[in-house]
Amino acid sequence: DWEMGSFIDTTVAQLKEKIGNGRVLCALSGGVDSSVAAVLLSKAVGRQLTCVFVDHGLLRKNESEEVSEVFGPEGPYDLNFIRVDAHERFYEKLKGVTEPEQKRKIIGEEFIRVFEAEAKKIGKVDFLVQGTIYPDVIESGLGKSAVIKSHHNVGGLPDYVDFKEIVEPLRMLFKDEVRQVGSNLGIPDKLVRRQPFPGPGLGIRIIGEVTEEKVRIVQEADYIYREEIAKAGVDKNLGQYFAALTNMRSVGVMGDFRTYDYAIALRAVMTSDFMTAESAQLPWEVLQKVTNRIVNEVKGVNRVMYDCTSKPPATIEFE
Ligand code: XMP
Repeated sequence: DWEMGSFIDTTVAQLKEKIGNGRVLCALSGGVDSSVAAVLLSKAVGRQLTCVFVDHGLLRKNESEEVSEVFGPEGPYDLNFIRVDAHERFYEKLKGVTEPEQKRKIIGEEFIRVFEAEAKKIGKVDFLVQGTIYPDVIESGLGKSAVIKSHHNVGGLPDYVDFKEIVEPLRMLFKDEVRQVGSNLGIPDKLVRRQPFPGPGLGIRIIGEVTEEKVRIVQEADYIYREEIAKAGVDKNLGQYFAALTNMRSVGVMGDFRTYDYAIALRAVMTSDFMTAESAQLPWEVLQKVTNRIVNEVKGVNRVMYDCTSKPPATIEFE
């Protein structure tokens, strides 16, 4: 695609000019936007860039490893990639906390603290990279009247790190253009085609208190769900699909024994803008297969439910 190819050349040239020999810091989440922004920057200024990836222990199964394989020292890019395994800090802070907004705040603040600590180690930073894209620019200009959920993503850091300027190489692009640029830069499809994943991660897909055990349950269930959806090839029209862990336990039976275990909720939505969404009609065979696998393979789960609710009145995520 020559148009995005020329975008890359032009942007790289502009970034070189702007940054000169300054030092650049990027919070890399492994999401499409921050990944594409990071690779563009690395093309422009090479090892003047440092990327920090904070693993808060609330990522999907294998995600931390996958991101590190692509962007770490063994991968094809030279990003001065630093992975911070901070899961213990996050689990500790989240102990006993059940209120959704409080959970979001804790995760967001802790994220900033961890990032800030890494930034300090690097020393003087001149530029901070943000993966802001065009829809973010428009949305933040709208001034929403009611906060439904306080948002956390890797874009929200500027006050906490001492730097001269923000660079936002993607601020004129729509999501599909960002994906195109990512493909042109050779970023694997697996990352470029990723569905949205919220900053607070699985923390908001576990209703109620977050524990290591619950993280394991939702990771396993979600992995099975995504695997079966991919196998069945039914993800074409889905905007987002994932498993969440309800806070409900119920009675079940296994062999001659009574169980009292958690219920997993499966969600799949069709949406164009994530402001409204419709629950997708997944084939029953797929749901049955996923359900059987989850109750058989994931310890601690004896019931699986499908969320048929639209947004509104529900939201896409559970918290
Ligand atoms: P809701 O649950 O509000 O989600 O219907 C709408 C879209 O936003 C994503 N989401 C987030 N993304 N930080 C993010 O970067 C967040 O804190 C956050 N909360 C929700 C959600 O996954 C969906 O795509």
